Amino acid sequence: MMAAHLLRRSWGSTISLLIVILLLSCSSQMTSAEAAPASRKSSSISMSQHKMLDAHQHLKRLNKPPLKTIKSPDGDIIDCVHIAHQPAFDHPLLKNHTIQTRPNFHPEGTKFEESKRVSAQKATSSKPITQLWHLKGRCPEGTIPIRRTKKEDVLRASSVERFGKKKPTKIPHQPRSAQPDLITQTGHQHAIVYVEGDKYYGAKATINVWEPKTQQPNEFSLSQIWILGGTFGQDLNSIEAGWQVSPDLYGDNRTRLFTYWTSDAYQATGCYNLLCTGFIQINNEIAMGASIFPVSGYRGSQYDISLLVWKDPKEGNWWIQFGNDYVLGYWPGFLFSYLTDSATMIEWGGEIVNSESDEQHTTTEMGSGHFPEEGFGKAGYFRNIQIVDGSNSLRDPKGLGTFTEQSSCYDVQNGRSGDWGTYFFYGGPGRNPNCP
Ligand SMILES: *[C@@H]1O[C@H](CO)[C@@H](O)[C@H](O)[C@H]1NC(C)=O
Ligand SMILES: *[C@@H]1O[C@H](CO)[C@@H](O)[C@H](O)[C@H]1NC(C)=O
Repeated sequence: MMAAHLLRRSWGSTISLLIVILLLSCSSQMTSAEAAPASRKSSSISMSQHKMLDAHQHLKRLNKPPLKTIKSPDGDIIDCVHIAHQPAFDHPLLKNHTIQTRPNFHPEGTKFEESKRVSAQKATSSKPITQLWHLKGRCPEGTIPIRRTKKEDVLRASSVERFGKKKPTKIPHQPRSAQPDLITQTGHQHAIVYVEGDKYYGAKATINVWEPKTQQPNEFSLSQIWILGGTFGQDLNSIEAGWQVSPDLYGDNRTRLFTYWTSDAYQATGCYNLLCTGFIQINNEIAMGASIFPVSGYRGSQYDISLLVWKDPKEGNWWIQFGNDYVLGYWPGFLFSYLTDSATMIEWGGEIVNSESDEQHTTTEMGSGHFPEEGFGKAGYFRNIQIVDGSNSLRDPKGLGTFTEQSSCYDVQNGRSGDWGTYFFYGGPGRNPNCP
């Protein structure tokens, strides 16, 4: 059954692969034509000089001229860029796009959920959260804050083209039919809960924020929601949002708010944050990729963020909201194939990279770096997790599954309560006597 399923899909992916190849060859022709004068002048130009030139051009595309610049205490530079000049509008299909200044529609149950959250916050003493750069200023109306990409950021990537993208070999696991050895091969480990088998039009969660340690700069630790459509072949559609620590992407060990999207299983399309064309930001207060402050402490104050992703049934755009007050923006429906209709699976939880650099399991932490058994104040949690159903209402997910590759390294435990609705604790330390 599995094989037949894959076979049927392979035609679709062959066609989309062809389109991708065509597009890629067009764009590489364009870049080689642009780069021709430089390379003719000096035929002995070195590989690293080429990479510097590419990086320079890439930065010029990414970093739009700002109306105002704010220097964050964490070393980030936040550019306030005119909303109409953001990277999204480099996309040929967005040339005549009219920016949606607000969603037409919020899923039903959002208001109810808000009042519930306030009481949940009182009950658990978790506190609201902001971004560090707010200490140094704000972006004016009509602009959006964009974390400036530095030359070092681009040069750290394996190639300029791959900057801001996940590794294409990274296929998220497929809980019910995955082969365990295929998953460990990729080196990614998860501790997640998921629902599948229905049509989903969004998802929501409140996630407490930590600053997990990563052992190697090319490893990361993240906690997020996945909105998935299609199969786990070459054509997976995914919208992702949460927090992450990723030294390779950001050049430090701080915890950052992020989004991601792809419509071809992380191959040619999509990226983190605003690092490619596609996502349209409308909010002038929250910068994607900016560090989150403060973070939760072990046995200390707990800080959490809530994220809601949902589809506007009228326009077909997928929106994202941070907290109760910040609608960040939207992914136009045309970016996707399967997600143009609905998602087929929702996942919530943590993911790390285990590169086994010293032939032992990585010590990269997930969540708080502590196992779920330790509970509130010590372990990472997702609470009030919900899906948006076919009648555009927020609902508790039904038939929740849990998944982890090696529960002795990272684990997950779900539960239900009044204030927290459907919730789970997750995470772990990585290498330990039971996870050598
Ligand atoms: C944008 O509008 C111009 C002028 O109306 C039109 O020629 C062009 O085809 C449009 N482009 C797209 C991508 O819709
Ligand atoms: C990030 O953490 C690693 C250890 O996990 C450390 O070696 C490195 O210096 C840190 N990097 C920065 C920029 O703080």
